[in-house]
Amino acid sequence: MAFYNLLLIVLIVASRALILKADSKLSPEYYSSKCPKALSVVQAAVIAAINRETRIGASLLRLHFHDCFVNGCDASVLLDDTGSFIGEKTAIPNNNSARGFDVVDAIKARLEKVCPQVMSCADILALAARDSVVYLGGPSWEVGLGRRDSTTANRSAANTFIPPPTSSLGDLLLNFSAQGLSVKEMVALAGAHTIGLARCTSFRAHIYNESNIDSSFAQSLRRNCPVSGNDNKLSPLDRQTPTHFDNLYYKNLLDKKGLLHSDQELFNNNFTDFLVQTYAADNQVFFQDFAKAMIKMSQIKPLTGSKGEIRINCRKVNQN
Ligand code: HEM
Ligand SMILES: *[C@@H]1O[C@H](CO)[C@@H](O)[C@H](O)[C@H]1NC(C)=O
Ligand SMILES: *[C@@H]1O[C@H](CO)[C@@H](O)[C@H](O)[C@H]1NC(C)=O
Ligand SMILES: *[C@@H]1O[C@H](CO)[C@@H](O)[C@H](O)[C@H]1NC(C)=O
Ligand SMILES: *[C@@H]1O[C@H](CO)[C@@H](O)[C@H](O)[C@H]1NC(C)=O
Ligand SMILES: *[C@@H]1O[C@H](CO)[C@@H](O)[C@H](O)[C@H]1NC(C)=O
Repeated sequence: MAFYNLLLIVLIVASRALILKADSKLSPEYYSSKCPKALSVVQAAVIAAINRETRIGASLLRLHFHDCFVNGCDASVLLDDTGSFIGEKTAIPNNNSARGFDVVDAIKARLEKVCPQVMSCADILALAARDSVVYLGGPSWEVGLGRRDSTTANRSAANTFIPPPTSSLGDLLLNFSAQGLSVKEMVALAGAHTIGLARCTSFRAHIYNESNIDSSFAQSLRRNCPVSGNDNKLSPLDRQTPTHFDNLYYKNLLDKKGLLHSDQELFNNNFTDFLVQTYAADNQVFFQDFAKAMIKMSQIKPLTGSKGEIRINCRKVNQN
């Protein structure tokens, strides 16, 4: 009897281990022997790029998000249009907005010299997002690696899966749960808006037509964002420290000073209010939850094994 119990326990533990291994196809050690310098090449290039222009850290973080939400973290967002598909760069959330492609190209070119066709563009995006957050003062996390790159992209999928700034709380929930992300993970990930900028066109209706915004804050934004025209004029998502990764984004929401309609939806007399209050009150809890949620987001449907390819140029599918 004791023997069979033991056997059962051993079997359960063994099968759990197998399941865990099968689940986490990505490994932080993936490049340790294949290309030991790869991670430091990415990090050095990210730091150099942020030193040239602080905003680029935010842009790189956002690229990873826009990649992962559209058919998984497969670098589809980086592909230029071809004869056989229209890429995601001109999808509504990306057109005149997504940036950092040149930095990714530079990282890839450097990697191709050090270790040709070893690191995927999808892994570059995941690492660049982490390295950016760390360099701007945010939390760190281990990035699972071994993603491969897609051989196609889909503009209409980008329009469907990436939430617009006009989203209600209910819309946001739908879009995040479609990716397997929880309410808590969604509110933590939205804290990425502690860095970076948004265009006038992304928040115009919020500052002219909505009541759920501090009126003097709305007034101050109107100077740089007229009722019509100047669509591309920029304002910071975190009005206080847009180049520093911290929890002031949530404190702004408590004051009704969220820049986007979708930001303020997270604190608007509803069931996510307590999460915003928690993160506003405790930077450490925010950092922990943000890091955990980034790990989860960066594991959305990766291509592994023989799926996809390791692109030589992140903008183009390899010629065969
Ligand atoms: C909750 C749903 C979200 C919505 C509706 C949303 C929407 C937006 C919009 C409209 C902008 C400004 C784009 C522009 O005007 O050019 C923006 C910027 C940004 N978003 Fe989000 N976003 C969301 C979640 C996220 C997540 C999950 C991340 C990353 C984990 C993220 C990272 C960023 C960053 C860093 C910027 C600034 C980019 C820059 O300055 O180049 N966002 N977002
Ligand atoms: C993208 O933006 C450019 C420049 O504003 C514009 O001409 C073009 O029509 C836009 N593309 C799409 C698909 O909206
Ligand atoms: C592109 O995405 C749209 C929206 O998700 C989907 O309906 C369509 O089938 C996709 N196209 C291809 C070629 O996968
Ligand atoms: C709370 O959010 C739900 C969507 O999840 C929405 O249906 C409801 O109207 C919201 N309540 C308030 C008071 O805004
Ligand atoms: C995302 O939310 C929008 C509403 O803003 C909805 O139309 C769309 O179907 C949602 N997409 C997914 C994949 O849930
Ligand atoms: C505000 O709402 C009115 C009425 O719906 C609309 O005509 C106007 O274009 C909106 N203004 C902005 C800046 O969104």
